[in-house]
Amino acid sequence: MHRLRLWFLLTLAWVLCGTAGAEPVAGVSSPGGTLTVTVSLNDEGRPGYAIVRRGRPVIAESRLGFLLTDAPKLERNFELTDSSTRSVDETWEQPWGERRYVRNKFNELRVRLREKSALHRRLEIVFRVYDDGVGFRYEFPDQSQLKQVNIADELTEFAVVEPATAWWIPAGEWNRYEYLYNRTPLAEVGQAHTPLTMRSADGLHVAIHEAALVDYSSMWLRRVAGQRLKASLSPSADGARVRRTAPFTTPWRTLQIADSAAGLYMSDLILNLNEPNALGDVSWVRPFKYVGIWWSLHLDTESWASGPKHGATTENAKLYIDFAAENGFRGVLVEGWNKGWDGDWFADGSAFSFTEPYSDFDLAAVAAYARERGVHLVGHHETSGFIAHYEDQLEDALDLYARLGIDSVKTGYVADAGGIKTRGADGAIRYEWHDGQVMSRHHIKVVTEAAKRQIMVNPHEPIKDTGLRRTYPNWVAREGARGMEYNAWGNPPNPPEHEANLVFTRMLGGPMDFTPGVLSLVGRGGQPIQSTIAKQLALYVVIYSPIQMAADLPENYAKYPGPFQFIRDVPVDWADTRVLNGEVGDFVTIARKDHDSEDWYLGSVTDENARRPRITLDFLDPRRSYSAQVYRDGDDADWKTNAHSIVIETRPAKHGDVWELALAPGGGQAIRFVAAAPTQ
Ligand code: NOJ
Ligand code: CA
Repeated sequence: MHRLRLWFLLTLAWVLCGTAGAEPVAGVSSPGGTLTVTVSLNDEGRPGYAIVRRGRPVIAESRLGFLLTDAPKLERNFELTDSSTRSVDETWEQPWGERRYVRNKFNELRVRLREKSALHRRLEIVFRVYDDGVGFRYEFPDQSQLKQVNIADELTEFAVVEPATAWWIPAGEWNRYEYLYNRTPLAEVGQAHTPLTMRSADGLHVAIHEAALVDYSSMWLRRVAGQRLKASLSPSADGARVRRTAPFTTPWRTLQIADSAAGLYMSDLILNLNEPNALGDVSWVRPFKYVGIWWSLHLDTESWASGPKHGATTENAKLYIDFAAENGFRGVLVEGWNKGWDGDWFADGSAFSFTEPYSDFDLAAVAAYARERGVHLVGHHETSGFIAHYEDQLEDALDLYARLGIDSVKTGYVADAGGIKTRGADGAIRYEWHDGQVMSRHHIKVVTEAAKRQIMVNPHEPIKDTGLRRTYPNWVAREGARGMEYNAWGNPPNPPEHEANLVFTRMLGGPMDFTPGVLSLVGRGGQPIQSTIAKQLALYVVIYSPIQMAADLPENYAKYPGPFQFIRDVPVDWADTRVLNGEVGDFVTIARKDHDSEDWYLGSVTDENARRPRITLDFLDPRRSYSAQVYRDGDDADWKTNAHSIVIETRPAKHGDVWELALAPGGGQAIRFVAAAPTQ
């Protein structure tokens, strides 16, 4: 950019942020000029940054820096030694995802800082500025004055300017991420996980998160005053929350910024800030749908533990395999197949064997039975958070799966937050958090060991998703929020607004193994699920994952052959994605184009309120006509009184048509647009 213009923009941005005592020292605008980031040093030499969007301040001057456990903090007395900018505009292809091609277009600013005091330590900060958001990270250069970096906490702040409403879940609490979303004024947030999503009165949406969380501790957000949020790194039993050796980089701190909720979800910022695929040929990573011995366990009609209720028997697994083969599902998950579930498995995990099946489950025979029918078992490793015990067996466990042709594994870390068990150098047990540096390393270890054996990984009770699927495409999904299981035994179960919350919060991080499709609409003991049957179908489009479970029991699918057809048809890999409308926690409509055909699919879900969103079918190809297979709430549908009321009908559709979607309370709609050959 022309230097004079840049300087004018920076000064303007700075004046708008109304910052006293600090001087702008560098800055950069996004390629389309929408966002401008300014970096400053105040009279104590303390670095800060601010963000302006189209002339309007979004983030006021906010602090940057670190507290260290064994050295003076890295925060004051800095001078700018140098800054530089560069621009990138490239398009890359995803092996699987919400869209095939991703545009990565940004302007980058690198500032190099050095302490004026005796230590002369150096710190670099890199900002990547997109039209739909900003990512910045710290880089610790190689230097003898700060070789071993032991971080007590990060001082990064986000001082949000406009009063805003926030959607958030608590961090540092007993659960990991499985909370219902709070909707409060931003000024009432306590300590929150990211993504934290907010909206100001005039409709500006901002989501704070992070990208590429590698060998580092997760960033929580703690409100320190007014609307000022501060990074707080997930703790460690070790004192220092992060231990690294320079040179290294921190994860990216990210702000997605858009005019609408839809705009937040459409942003590819998180993926773009991750490193490209590190695994080489990943053609063996295949999106798939699966069924499994699972919902019955959560209903408590069968058990993980051995005994008369044991679900994972050879016979039962074969029934699921037959069902999968008949209906075109690639995968069959079998939970409770291995020794260790008897007694209080929640509390311990030391009894788990990841190689020995229970005596009523012939693993080799079941795997062979599946293979003969073109079905793949989905492996299961529940660790109860005892990762030292799991890591002892990891290679043997994955070797066993590889030998049997089991090419995906669902892992699990059921333990209260802070209850991950690892071993210290002295061999004694240490208790860690699910999202600390130890777990960031553990997950990458599992994912890379699995990749060596061409196995896909889907952790439950995971560390949060920061887009690492780009670097490790076999890391296909994870849980990390309240999923369907809460509708079996949750008190309370998921409310109707839950999924419209997830799309604009948790889902900004990446795919979720939510496990939709419970068409029976009842949990344990007959507790109603707060959804219509049409909404269960819509979730396959709305809650993205390259692996999707059809979570209900086969006998329940037999009762609903009409709606079940959509679950059989819906793809799990997409060429394109469009969010047509939506408001956080209220409703959302998403259209996605099949990766392997010209068909489009649409899902729309609402909260407890009936709605009639209007949509324009401008995503359809104007050269084709379509036959739309519509699965909509019946006129009398309501999750409370008539949850199974559904109309399944076929109607013609073409580019530009305007439709009104009638959504019942707790309802939804799913549509398959089947494309005809193009007209010349
Ligand atoms: C919690 C997981 O989310 C669930 O899917 C699984 O069935 C249990 N843990 C047991 O591993
Ligand atoms: Ca869970």
